[in-house]
Amino acid sequence: LSLPKESGLGAVPYLHLFQGFWCPSHCIQGVENFQKHFHAKDNDVFVASFPKSGTTWLKALTFAIVNLPSFSSFEHHPLLTSNPHELVSYPEFILSRDFHDQVLSLSNMSEPRLFSTHVPFSSLPESVTKSNCKIIYICRNPFDIFVSSWEFFTKLKLVSLPALTYEEAFEKYCNGIVGFGPWWSHMLGFWKESIATPNKVLFLKYEDLKEDTEFHVKRMVEFLGCTITQREESTEMVENIIKLCRFEKMKDLEVNKSGEIDKFTEKKNFFRKGKIGDWINYLSPSMIEKLSKITEEKLSGSGLSFKMH
Ligand code: A3P
Repeated sequence: LSLPKESGLGAVPYLHLFQGFWCPSHCIQGVENFQKHFHAKDNDVFVASFPKSGTTWLKALTFAIVNLPSFSSFEHHPLLTSNPHELVSYPEFILSRDFHDQVLSLSNMSEPRLFSTHVPFSSLPESVTKSNCKIIYICRNPFDIFVSSWEFFTKLKLVSLPALTYEEAFEKYCNGIVGFGPWWSHMLGFWKESIATPNKVLFLKYEDLKEDTEFHVKRMVEFLGCTITQREESTEMVENIIKLCRFEKMKDLEVNKSGEIDKFTEKKNFFRKGKIGDWINYLSPSMIEKLSKITEEKLSGSGLSFKMH
């Protein structure tokens, strides 16, 4: 029996410290292949995030924006029937096996290509960081990320892996031992890049996106350089995109579709409550105090802060 180096939240796969971050062991090879064999194109778009920060929502919104010329009617939109995870893939996961075939199929994708990644900025392939491709990053307050991760990973069907107790998972999270963590390094990596190169990295917060979706979707449209010519048309388009990607609409996708279940999780597990501040129902006063201190300490001086409720 081989013992894991570390395990993460709930029943998450084993984690290994790799290039300074806690990489789930099943995607180390994929990250290496991504770094060595992926060739970014200048018109590629990446959705980047720390897991459980709102990736699914951002994938949907970005897919809708990037594909506006092809699906402007919204009546037969792929997002009405497909989960965003089926439409936007992670190179670090798909390149973990048969990568020669995968690299070829990625290079043949229709343009502009849209990808998603959880890889920290410092470990992204040079062709991504150095080319003109665009990155939209979504960040979320670390309290809700913990709760969302806990609920998500405890539902994963990886029964063969040792599960952590809630308290153990919290301790590890506070120490940064969580897939693609530490979470503070992940956030700060993209935060700093968004300040240094605002045309390259657009930094969004889940809480802001919830509070004023229209404003931030318009920022995304502008950042991606999409041309919606008429003013009235632009507002209507943005409203349609927002409606299409609403939590209430997306959460039933799996039911609408074939009920297909992927390897690790039911797709509907990506939609839980979709609220800000659910952590209040989960964290004890001492946990709140501890995580507040860590957040303050790790983000101090960066200018990055969060709405908590
Ligand atoms: P909760 O677990 O707090 O409900 P990710 O997509 O990065 O895995 O993040 C998952 C979180 O985003 C979950 O948070 C999920 O409910 C929320 N989410 C998923 N789709 C959403 C949407 N369309 N609008 C708002 N929140 C969404």
